[in-house]
Amino acid sequence: MTQLPRVITDDVLSENLIELLDGKIERLPWSTLDGADDDTVDGILTFGHLLVTAEHLAKFPDLKVVSNYGVGVDHIDVDAAHILNIPVGNTPHVLNGTTADQAMTLLLAAGRRLREGDIYARSPEFTYFDPAYMLGTEIHHQTVGIIGLGGIGYQIARRCAAFDMNILYHKRTPLADNPDNLDLTYVTLNELLEQSDFVVTICPLTEETTGLIGKEELARMKNSAVLINVARGPVVDTDALTEALQNGEIYAAGLDVTDPEPLPRDHPLLSVDNVTITPHLGSATIQTRRKMAEISVENLLLGLGGQALLHSV
Ligand code: DGY
Repeated sequence: MTQLPRVITDDVLSENLIELLDGKIERLPWSTLDGADDDTVDGILTFGHLLVTAEHLAKFPDLKVVSNYGVGVDHIDVDAAHILNIPVGNTPHVLNGTTADQAMTLLLAAGRRLREGDIYARSPEFTYFDPAYMLGTEIHHQTVGIIGLGGIGYQIARRCAAFDMNILYHKRTPLADNPDNLDLTYVTLNELLEQSDFVVTICPLTEETTGLIGKEELARMKNSAVLINVARGPVVDTDALTEALQNGEIYAAGLDVTDPEPLPRDHPLLSVDNVTITPHLGSATIQTRRKMAEISVENLLLGLGGQALLHSV
């Protein structure tokens, strides 16, 4: 019997991955990464966001591929992998629309106080309709500022256009391609923060974007503004955001990601009313997660066979 390729995977994998990997690899526990050097390891498949460091990569001289289930690869030392000529696969494109839907879910929920409304509607206090309570902030015809207009950001912009929003964006360089001819205005980060009613972060996590939205940036935003983070937690300074929400420096926030993630259960941000938090659900639909599983397994198998990956970084 031929020996199956030996692949380190997270100890917990989704059913999709388990099914797609069945009979194709020999799974090795994640702890293998912290064990001794091993020239029998062929691949790494990362499912959650566990770290893959330069030190880990250097332990496996026969490593052929690192395949990531997800588009963001900030938990993998990609530079070290490149130096070692190890391709790193990811799953772009298939999750753009889904993650944009999640951004809109949070934008609508935070602006229209969905979380508080749901709690109130279920509570004994809700005994009569009061037209003066729980007023939210308008969404249509407001200005949205999108930080990071890549594939997901563009899909967010399309959705905002359908809400008749005025769309500003900021990224390193102005957009080269605008396939839907959306009415988009490129502005500096400060202009975006000062003019937007909704600020949406959807940039990759890099050294440059770590702490991008801190005390000073939150102070630049309108007191009536809503911050949505669907990028990575460390793009926003958690302490500064907690303070800004507590002090009414901004109106509300919607977060799909936090720093740390998850927040400690007694973190003060969890007691703030005007923040809506989802547990990193950006691409979490049945359909999209299946596609991500298929691509990450395909990337893994291609890499194990020494072929070019479907998608790599
Ligand atoms: C991604 O694809 O990067 C998502 O955050 C899920 O990992």
